[in-house]
Amino acid sequence: MKILVTGGAGFIGSHTLVELYAAGHKPVVLDNLSNSSPKSLERVAELAGVESVPFYECDIRDRAAVDALLEKEGHFDACIHFAGLKAVGESVAKPWEYYDNNIGGTLTLLDCMRWHGCKNIIFSSSATVYGDPAVVPITEECPKGHCTNPYGQTKSMLEEIMSDMQKADPEWNVVLLRYFNPIGAHRSGRIGENPNGIPNNLMPYITQVAIGRRKELGVFGNDYDTPDGTGVRDYIHVVDLARGHVCALKAIERKCGLAVYNLGTGRGYSVLEVVNAFEQATGVKVPYKIQPRRPGDIATCYSDPSKAAAELGWRAEYGIEDMCRDSWRWQSMNPEGY
Ligand code: NAD
Ligand code: WQD
Repeated sequence: MKILVTGGAGFIGSHTLVELYAAGHKPVVLDNLSNSSPKSLERVAELAGVESVPFYECDIRDRAAVDALLEKEGHFDACIHFAGLKAVGESVAKPWEYYDNNIGGTLTLLDCMRWHGCKNIIFSSSATVYGDPAVVPITEECPKGHCTNPYGQTKSMLEEIMSDMQKADPEWNVVLLRYFNPIGAHRSGRIGENPNGIPNNLMPYITQVAIGRRKELGVFGNDYDTPDGTGVRDYIHVVDLARGHVCALKAIERKCGLAVYNLGTGRGYSVLEVVNAFEQATGVKVPYKIQPRRPGDIATCYSDPSKAAAELGWRAEYGIEDMCRDSWRWQSMNPEGY
């Protein structure tokens, strides 16, 4: 299939490109490089054994540029839509920028797509739409919760917008993928997560402490109602997540209408378990210090991934040791990122 991949130069997008090529698809990338480097695409090309990845440096809010891309490229079978801003804390400080980029940008993209006759989309949603879940594991039927930040609101609102569009026009096939906590990197160590500034997320912080760029990890709270008091999350290897998108394309081919899937492993690990697994997998110590809770954090969040297994034939294959080992290989081979 010929696939438009928005945000393809980013962390999850770059790994998905490798899997799309491996499955025989033809991706074309649109990215404004606001949070990524074009080097990721050079490395994807090298891993996929292609000369270069077709790439348009373009913003999804720029209607004329998106139109021109669609005009020039001709028919796309589907779009995998990763492009978006994703830093929770930043979204609290800059809500307009998040609504403009994520919602404004997606509305423009969807409108351009329908005018060019492409009504198939896979959207990067997030477990954040469940808010603080009443029960775990979380199934897709669990009610969406109250999102405490504008980033989460954009994901939840975009899910509603795309669901309403699909209801009004059944020619649309919309797959909403709710990712849990993606970590890890391609096992080659050539592509991985490349955060700007101080990492917000746990694994990049751990790898930067391990490589000596930061002194110690702050563990945000040890008084949660969890076995060791630290927060529990469903970490998923980014390559497993990437393969989930290839499986979701099959749902589009089957004309699934509207479909929603959790992509997680179904297993939760606490912060201290992750630190321990990282030390075991890599042999590198990670000094840490218990700090106060981070505002907005919840105690426990992990998925029930059985719907994706039953309907997409997708299951996460990698365990926490693989995730730690591969995150570390990426960080140690690229101490300053790309
Ligand atoms: P990322 O920042 O590495 O990738 C996003 C890409 O989108 C970047 O390359 C960025 O330059 C591009 N982009 C942003 N705004 C754009 C715009 N207006 N026009 C064109 N390109 C634009 O992030 P990621 O971790 O790869 O996340 C991909 C998607 O998955 C995002 O939508 C994110 O919200 C979602 N998601 C991520 C996580 C996570 O923990 N990483 C979890 C759940 C959902
Ligand atoms: C994991 C655990 C922290 C950093 C976020 C977004 C969510 C989704 C994934 C996009 C928590 C603890 C973290 C640190 C720590 N993104 N932690 N010290 O908060 O589950 O989810 O990323 O959709 O929307 O909210 O992930 O990696 O930030 O935190 O102790 O320096 O690690 O408290 O328990 P989170 P995370």
